[in-house]
Amino acid sequence: MSLSRRQLLAAPVALAATSLLPGPLLAAVAAQTPPLPDLSDWDAVRAQFALDPAYRHFASFFIASHPVPVREALEGYRRAVDANPFLFVERAMFEDDAHNLPLQVCAEVADYLGGRGQDVCLTRSTTEGLALVYHGLPLQRGDEVLTTVHDHYSHHESIRLATLRSGASVRKIALFKASHDASTDEIVGTLKAAIRPQTKVVGVTWVHSSTGIRLPVREISAMLRGLPQPPLLVVDGVHGLGAADETIATMGADYFCAGTHKWMFGPRGTGIVWADAANWARLRPLIPNFSELESYTAWTQDRLPAGASNAARMSPGGFHAFEHQWALAAAFRMHRQMGRARVATRIAALNEQLKAGLATLPKVTVHTPRSAALSAGLVSFEVEGVTPQEVVKQLLARRVIASTSPYAVPHARLAPSLVNTAAEVDEALAAVRAIAA
Ligand SMILES: Cc1ncc(COP(=O)(O)O)c(C=O)c1O
Repeated sequence: MSLSRRQLLAAPVALAATSLLPGPLLAAVAAQTPPLPDLSDWDAVRAQFALDPAYRHFASFFIASHPVPVREALEGYRRAVDANPFLFVERAMFEDDAHNLPLQVCAEVADYLGGRGQDVCLTRSTTEGLALVYHGLPLQRGDEVLTTVHDHYSHHESIRLATLRSGASVRKIALFKASHDASTDEIVGTLKAAIRPQTKVVGVTWVHSSTGIRLPVREISAMLRGLPQPPLLVVDGVHGLGAADETIATMGADYFCAGTHKWMFGPRGTGIVWADAANWARLRPLIPNFSELESYTAWTQDRLPAGASNAARMSPGGFHAFEHQWALAAAFRMHRQMGRARVATRIAALNEQLKAGLATLPKVTVHTPRSAALSAGLVSFEVEGVTPQEVVKQLLARRVIASTSPYAVPHARLAPSLVNTAAEVDEALAAVRAIAA
C-alpha cells in the first residue's frame, strides 16, 4: 500500500480534484460510521433486522438481511457517492492511506480474524474467493488437488475450472461414513490416508451446508503440516465465519475464503480471502487490481510488477458497488461489539435445543453431529417418507422458513441464528413434529 495510491488510474485529474475536495465531503467519511446501538441482549440484536415478522426465519445463512448498522453505513455511503461520485470515490479509493476506505475495511476484518489488514483480500463472495485462490495457485500437470465429496458446487467448480487450465488432477474422498457420528480422529485419519506425494493442495469446507458438520480444521492443519511435504490447505469457511468462535488467522488454513453476506450480516455481494504473506506470494493474480500502486506503475512503464504477489495485488479491481464493500466494516464492528464467543455460544445453544428436540421425533433423522465442537449453526435432517422439498414446503405453510441443501442428496435444513429465539425454535420443532406425525 502506498501513500500515493491516488496516482493509480487517475493521476493528474485526481491531483487537481483533491485540492478542490469540499470539507463536508471529508467529514462524510467519518459520518458513515455512526455509533453502534446497544447489542447487549439478544432482543436488541434481533431488533436490528427488518425481517418479516410473519415468518420464523431459519434460513438466514443463505443471504443476510442487513442489520441497522449495515443499512445505515450503506445508505450513508450511497448518499455521499450519489452527491459526489467522482470526488468521493476518487478520494476513498485512491487517496492517501488514512482516507482509503478499502484499507479501513481490511483493518476491521483483520481485527476480527486476528490477522493483519494487508493480508485481507476483499471479494464479492465465497465463490469469487475460491476461484481466485485455485486459479492463482501455480498448479502443474502431475499435481493433484485433493478435496472431498462434501463440498459446495462453488468449491468443486473452482477446482475443476482451475485444474482444467493447469492440467493438474482432482480427487474427491469422503471424510466420514456418517456425518452425525463422525469424529475428529476419523476425519483426520481418513484425510491423512488419502494424501499422495502428488497432492499439492487440500480443499475442505469448515462448516458443511449439506450436513451441518463442522470440520476440525486445526487438527487437519496440524496433521498436514506434520507431513514431509505438506500440501496447502484451502478452506471454504463461509458457514463458520460469524457463527463459530475461532481466530481465523491462526486456525491453520493456508487460504481462508468466505462470503461475508451470510453469518457476518455484511452487505450482500461481499466476501474475503485471508492468507499470510508467504501464501499470498505463491499466487498468480487473475483479475487486474485497483489496490496496488506497483501494479499500476509497472503498467505505465511497460514492465512486470516487481516483488511478490500480495492480498492487494490479488484483489479484484474494477469499480464495484462501493457502498456495499465499504459498509462491510459496520458488520465486522457489530460482530466485535456482540463478541465472537458470545455469538457462538448463543448459536450453539439454539442449535442444541433444536437437535435435542428433533432427536425425540421417531421419524426424524438428524445428519448434524450433536457435539457443539463438530457443528455450528446448521441442522440438517430428514423425515421418513417425506421428501426434503416437501418438508420445506410444509414448514413454510406453517410460517417456518427452512431450506433444502443444494447437493446431489438434499436434506432439509433449519439454521437457528441470532435472528431467532428459543420460543421460535420450539415453534419450528412443533412444525416438524406435525409433519412427521
Ligand atoms: C459451503 C458453501 N460454500 C460456498 C457457498 C457460496 O457462497 P457465496 O454466495 O458467498 O459465493 C455456499 C452457499 O451458501 C455454501 O453453502
